[in-house]
Amino acid sequence: MKTLVVYASKNGYSRECAQQIASNLGDGSVAVDCRKEAKKANLADFGAVVLGGGIHVGKLPGYLRRYCAKNTAELIGKRIALFLCCTETDPAGHQKYFDTNFPVELVQQAQLKGWFGGRIIVAEHNVVTRAILKKILGNGDDFRGERPESLRAFIEDFKKLVS
Ligand SMILES: Cc1cc2nc3c(=O)[nH]c(=O)nc-3n(C[C@H](O)[C@H](O)[C@H](O)COP(=O)(O)O)c2cc1C
Repeated sequence: MKTLVVYASKNGYSRECAQQIASNLGDGSVAVDCRKEAKKANLADFGAVVLGGGIHVGKLPGYLRRYCAKNTAELIGKRIALFLCCTETDPAGHQKYFDTNFPVELVQQAQLKGWFGGRIIVAEHNVVTRAILKKILGNGDDFRGERPESLRAFIEDFKKLVS
């Protein structure tokens, strides 16, 4: 079954995860940037859709939230999985992010939900954001909280769902 992976990534980590999901699924599966390419992908061509991205100040980028809201009716007829990239480690926190960023029908319909950790490279941010990050993180260091094992497990579980 061909899978469309639609991602929203401000700093690149969710993009890397989305691309790994699509390349591991093969079979014509593709990862598309929700902001630039999602409009060109015809949902009717895909039996399964993975949607996700990076959380910034509690939210996924607005263009992914709007894409999900606009396409809910078509999406709920497919195999659906959702994912998040963020530094929050508490599963209850992840559930809250799913609930507040995706339409309720999609959260209910999703057969799989994944969390792949998060990554902050301080040098990628402007002076204002760096100051905010210093307050949140308590220092000026990069935060490397990627969870490749969670990504691998998600890919294996999703393969079973679509096989
Ligand atoms: C300005 C900023 C705000 C963030 N806010 C949150 C947050 O509210 N909750 C959280 O768990 N992670 C937060 N993070 C961590 C990001 O979710 C993490 O860096 C993630 O890897 C971003 O994904 P991306 O690289 O695909 O944009 C924040 C990161 C930045 C730079």
